[in-house]
Amino acid sequence: MPETAIDAHYPAPDIVDAEGFSALWDTRPVRLTRRTGRLEQLETQIERLLERMNIAVIYGGDKTIEGAVINQTHNPRSWKSYQAVAQDIADSLTRLGAKNVRLMADDMTLGGRLREENIHFAWLNSGGVQGYDSMSHSAAMLEMTGIPYVGHNPLTASILDNKHAFKRQLHALGIPTPAFMTWHLSRGPFVPETNRRFHEVFAGFSGPFIVKPVCGRASLHVNIVDTVADLTEAVAEVYSATENHILIEEFMPGAEFTVAVCGSITSHGRKLVQSNHPHVFSAVERVLTEEERIFTSMDVRPITTDRLKSLGPRTDSEVHGKLVDIAREVFTEMDLETLIRLDLRMDANGRLHVLEANPKPDLKRPNAEKTSIVCIGLSECGMDYDDLILSLLSDRIDFLLCQRRGTVTALTSLLD
Ligand SMILES: Nc1ncnc2c1ncn2[C@@H]1O[C@H](COP(=O)(O)OP(=O)(O)O)[C@@H](O)[C@H]1O
Ligand SMILES: [Mg+2]
Repeated sequence: MPETAIDAHYPAPDIVDAEGFSALWDTRPVRLTRRTGRLEQLETQIERLLERMNIAVIYGGDKTIEGAVINQTHNPRSWKSYQAVAQDIADSLTRLGAKNVRLMADDMTLGGRLREENIHFAWLNSGGVQGYDSMSHSAAMLEMTGIPYVGHNPLTASILDNKHAFKRQLHALGIPTPAFMTWHLSRGPFVPETNRRFHEVFAGFSGPFIVKPVCGRASLHVNIVDTVADLTEAVAEVYSATENHILIEEFMPGAEFTVAVCGSITSHGRKLVQSNHPHVFSAVERVLTEEERIFTSMDVRPITTDRLKSLGPRTDSEVHGKLVDIAREVFTEMDLETLIRLDLRMDANGRLHVLEANPKPDLKRPNAEKTSIVCIGLSECGMDYDDLILSLLSDRIDFLLCQRRGTVTALTSLLD
């Protein structure tokens, strides 16, 4: 496939910093030369599928509802239904031309409902109903029942939603992440003074530390621990709340950022475009106040626009370029198949470190009062909310039709 014309849009960076990241990549989408007419064909396929598919948008089931589960168990991941956002996604699909979209709860009735309602395609907007690795449960059920979906596969969803597992991948890829170790109370209380790994990892660093759940959200149970002496108690506290592994990490005192990245097919004014890179957008600085040492989540304080500073490739070229590089690297090297949002923070020397990846970033449709971080930079890429939804759908359908043909027989028959 001739790619020289495309490469001309992405000249080799002439400034590369010590970590090998450039600040000069062009983030504008360019049309990738694939089979001539493939994008036009995809547009027609999407139009047909929207008209013919029965689509389920899946949100987190509530374990307290009769029949949702057999036995109610503990939620190591703080539970949220995400139903309102599922409705935003469903409404957008309808505006884009879908004729039959339903909301469904992610619980043990899901398999039956998918069959009864003859669902052809699903959109995952769920953190699960209960149990460990709950982010992956509905993806696993869809794989098992043979329903294609927008969302991460079960393995990727589990890795991304377990901060320690994700950080080990970052380590292997040489992408900076704060120094860390994990602890589980089944090994007894955490005693840093006599812990060999603690000394190896932190090598004389005496704080501050972050103690947080490996599987959390919205800054819940994230603690700053200023001294080594206070770690034992902090680890025990987070463990009693989550009953899961605990992450002990070096505190990064610098500026905080987030950036979104998805596949290379995107919609701009409902016209599909393909770039030769994953699409990086909504690079944002989360503005912290003087007394705010960690970002206070939207569960505690609304995320208003004064708490977010949108970053541009021209106005903030250095940090923007680095965020783009890191986001593309994570997406490509981890073989991601759909949207994530990365959270990052700088150390005292201004070096960026990845804190975590959100496998199901908030996709709330912006309104006059509230926005979602992922949507804040859409207009800069010539996209609106419906373009974002169409992008995620189109990129996924293209991936399934081109690379997972054997798993989407139900869709291909709808295209006949
Ligand atoms: N190692 C760290 N150094 C500095 N701040 C941190 C660190 N880890 C977490 N934080 C702060 O806590 C917030 C929540 O942590 P994060 O890892 O993003 O988990 P989650 O968003 O899933 O709760 C971050 O947005 C950041 O402000
Ligand atoms: Mg976060």
